[in-house]
Amino acid sequence: MLVFVANVLVFADARGLHSHGAMRAEYYAERIAKEGINHHPDFHFERTGASSGIFHADNGAGHVAAQFAMDEAIKMAKENGVAVVGVKKMGHSGALSYYTERAAKHDLIGFSVCLSDPMVVPFGGAEPYYGTNPIAFAVPGNEGKLISFDMATTVQAWGKILHARSKNQLIPDTWAVDENGEPTTDPFKVQALLPISGPKGYGLGMMVDVLSGILLGLPFGNKVSSMYHDLSEGRNLGQLHLVINPELFTTINKFKDDIATTMRDLNAIKPAPGFNQVYYPGQNLEVIQKEYEEKGIEIVDDIYAYLVSDVIHNNSYDHKDPFVE
Ligand code: NAI
Repeated sequence: MLVFVANVLVFADARGLHSHGAMRAEYYAERIAKEGINHHPDFHFERTGASSGIFHADNGAGHVAAQFAMDEAIKMAKENGVAVVGVKKMGHSGALSYYTERAAKHDLIGFSVCLSDPMVVPFGGAEPYYGTNPIAFAVPGNEGKLISFDMATTVQAWGKILHARSKNQLIPDTWAVDENGEPTTDPFKVQALLPISGPKGYGLGMMVDVLSGILLGLPFGNKVSSMYHDLSEGRNLGQLHLVINPELFTTINKFKDDIATTMRDLNAIKPAPGFNQVYYPGQNLEVIQKEYEEKGIEIVDDIYAYLVSDVIHNNSYDHKDPFVE
């Protein structure tokens, strides 16, 4: 099972998404050690309709549950044209594009949203309510190329704050607020994140909360469990995958040709001052991945030291609540 988790972390690091890569290994290892991630989950898939189902994750590792659930959705979408699969009671599942790209590699459209712990102020509020509630979408083009869009509904993911802390870097004052609800540049003072584009990002976060929380009968809004509080309790998170077979509407070859045209069209757009090229969504990460293939994947010193230390083996964990630090 751990290899599934490792695959998602490496996928993220290899594309420069360090916020969801090896940086989280210590947290996952600690939660596994404290049994807040179920070591022996009773995974089972319940079909709830011709094109829908619930993957019961029994608070097992989210990376594994989300992948198995996506594979069920892929199977169902190939049979029935469309599939909606909820993952119920899961741990944190990392970078969502890992799952949506799986669908796109099968010539399907992949969409996924998930719950995340409450750390985002609603538009106009000074207290957090929703999580960073990410949204991912991937579609196939030609020659194995994909458009893959994957974002937190906040200006930045929480992991980017952690990354800034690990590198001792300041953050822009548009990312987050301190305990008074004032914008801050000090990653150690962050108490809540800001949604993207004010009320619009706030609305998207609400949508994700409904689809992956309320719809699945799980704790929602500010009742979603916190990543860093009780590490001995399962997180009861939710995720929703939607997979659409383009052949319901067109032929797969026309669909992929049109996506390939979109990619070429976007790449041919005249760049604005200060930009070298317009990328299609996800292409910026392909560029990073290519660089890493030559130079190796960058990992900050502290994370490297942790990975080669014996902490994982001797179970001597400690953790600090990032909202108290
Ligand atoms: P980001 O801000 O790095 O990128 C967002 C999107 O914009 C990506 O699709 C990226 O390819 C695209 N993009 C960025 N620069 C671009 C450019 N120059 N040209 C074209 N497209 C460009 O992503 P963010 O919001 O920091 O999220 C990072 C990861 O964190 C995601 O994988 C997300 O799923 C994950 N996440 C997971 C959570 C969880 O609870 N499981 C919670 C929040 C985020």
